[in-house]
Amino acid sequence: MNSLPSLVLAFLVIVLQVLDSAVICNGGKTSTYVRKVEKTVDMPLDSDVFGVPPGYNAPQQVHLTQGDHVGKAVIVSWVTEDEPGSSTVVYWSENSKEKKKAKGKFNIYRFFNYTSGFIHHCTIRNLEYNTKYYYVVGVDHTMRKFWFTTPPGVGPNVPYTFGLIGDLGQSFDSNRTLTHYEQNPVKGEAVLFVGDLSYADNYPNHDNVRWDTWGRFTERVVAYQPWIWTAGNHEIDFAPEIGETEPFKPYMHRYHVPYQASNSTAPFWYSIKRASAYIIVLSSYSAYGKYTPQYKWLEEELPKVNRSETPWLIVLMHSPWYNSYNYHYMEGETMRVMYEPWFVQYKVDVVFAGHVHAYERTERISNIAYNIVNGLCTPVKDQSAPVYITIGDGGNIEGLANNMTEPQPAYSAYREASFGHAIFDIKNKTHAYYSWHRNHDGYAVEADSMWFFNRYWHPVDESSASQ
Ligand SMILES: *[C@@H]1O[C@H](CO)[C@@H](O)[C@H](O)[C@H]1NC(C)=O
Ligand SMILES: *[C@@H]1O[C@H](CO)[C@@H](O)[C@H](O)[C@H]1NC(C)=O
Ligand SMILES: *[C@@H]1O[C@H](CO)[C@@H](O)[C@H](O)[C@H]1NC(C)=O
Ligand SMILES: *[C@@H]1O[C@H](CO)[C@@H](O)[C@H](O)[C@H]1NC(C)=O
Ligand SMILES: *[C@@H]1O[C@H](CO)[C@@H](O)[C@H](O)[C@H]1NC(C)=O
Ligand SMILES: *[C@@H]1O[C@H](CO)[C@@H](O)[C@H](O)[C@H]1NC(C)=O
Ligand SMILES: [Fe+2]
Repeated sequence: MNSLPSLVLAFLVIVLQVLDSAVICNGGKTSTYVRKVEKTVDMPLDSDVFGVPPGYNAPQQVHLTQGDHVGKAVIVSWVTEDEPGSSTVVYWSENSKEKKKAKGKFNIYRFFNYTSGFIHHCTIRNLEYNTKYYYVVGVDHTMRKFWFTTPPGVGPNVPYTFGLIGDLGQSFDSNRTLTHYEQNPVKGEAVLFVGDLSYADNYPNHDNVRWDTWGRFTERVVAYQPWIWTAGNHEIDFAPEIGETEPFKPYMHRYHVPYQASNSTAPFWYSIKRASAYIIVLSSYSAYGKYTPQYKWLEEELPKVNRSETPWLIVLMHSPWYNSYNYHYMEGETMRVMYEPWFVQYKVDVVFAGHVHAYERTERISNIAYNIVNGLCTPVKDQSAPVYITIGDGGNIEGLANNMTEPQPAYSAYREASFGHAIFDIKNKTHAYYSWHRNHDGYAVEADSMWFFNRYWHPVDESSASQ
């Protein structure tokens, strides 16, 4: 007699579960995880992470980025405070004890009443692929030694693991994000950084001392692996009220990128190949309309991507095109209107952006049919379109974006207002495993994940395979 009601109950539970998952499939998921509300504050100047290395004129703020188009060169950058010292890098491969030298250059810049240290940039070229190198900067008693590993040669089935960090800043939360990236059991080999580095511009007169502290804070990772830089709005440092009218001045002096190797005419948009990935970096804060240098470059760039050589086509930009938070809402819209048809035509696999201080992943959708008069202005499912991921959740001082547009748009697959980082783990030319890790979990926990199927080689709908 008891079994009938319980059967009905079980049936109801199943119906409800089916309904529930149907809702999740159609409308996307807003995570129920609610982060403990606490203020995001910058680490004070005397924090351990900002410590100046000991010794007279010791090189500090050491950082690496790719130095050519294919991954056989590295740009090593660092700052000396007392005098220029040497711009030479001494390096040797793990397999050979023969020490080589590469000569760089240094520059300084002034910003209002701040004068930078001596900022050195040295490109080491003709490296072997897939090789560990040691390198030394500085002279005599203040030499500092680091190492990096070059990527495998460019090719279609080369596995490679990228980390993803955006809008990092230098708060206690930023330090947690960096630590979680370091401690993630899946080791990122290079970071795709989607813009907004130091947030020095939040300080009076854009206190550029906070660019130096950021350089010292991040050194523990970026001196050992390249970070691929994207310019965000906090890199603009446009402050006419204090006489600073040259946009991107501190960023351009401190963070060099190999833009000439992709025939770009400015460091804000460029491309690199790395293992099986082709990475295009765009600038949300440089002109991108028709006839502009960035437009012309991208128009010529996309047809050059050879998916037989680099199956994975990844785009980085700062301001997201698809963002269902009530922050920076539609700021990426004008660039989307310009470039989205190309992204669909060339089957971009994934677009990573930052800017919004939260996390969001979209379905594969496009919104390119609209022509002013036809009324077709709703994003539609599109298997040639990229997945758009907003990963502006590095933890900067401005805090989290937690106000979302309701209801969640159908294009939005997952969204959550937490700090974290992600890993894009390319397995071969058809499969890549993506995971997002929130700072409040243990290092290995995946709060969101998805198997990416390559759009060129395996353009199968993954949304059923995603969680
Ligand atoms: C720059 O100016 C600000 C505001 O007047 C002042 O607080 C700061 O000490 C000055 N910094 C330097 C390096 O002179
Ligand atoms: C930053 O994180 C590192 C590594 O977890 C830790 O050793 C350090 O004490 C932290 N510093 C601050 C200021 O939170
Ligand atoms: C850049 O332009 C030169 C000259 O037109 C060409 O030889 C080279 O292949 C181009 N490089 C890239 C990466 O497109
Ligand atoms: C594309 O790359 C493949 C593999 O490296 C190569 O065989 C082919 O010639 C390239 N195609 C073009 C048009 O360069
Ligand atoms: C969330 O954003 C909406 C739209 O901008 C605004 O009307 C609303 O007041 C915000 N809610 C909160 C709690 O800030
Ligand atoms: C590519 O990687 C996926 C995931 O590891 C695997 O299932 C698949 O068999 C691989 N494809 C090839 C051709 O090895
Ligand atoms: Fe931003």
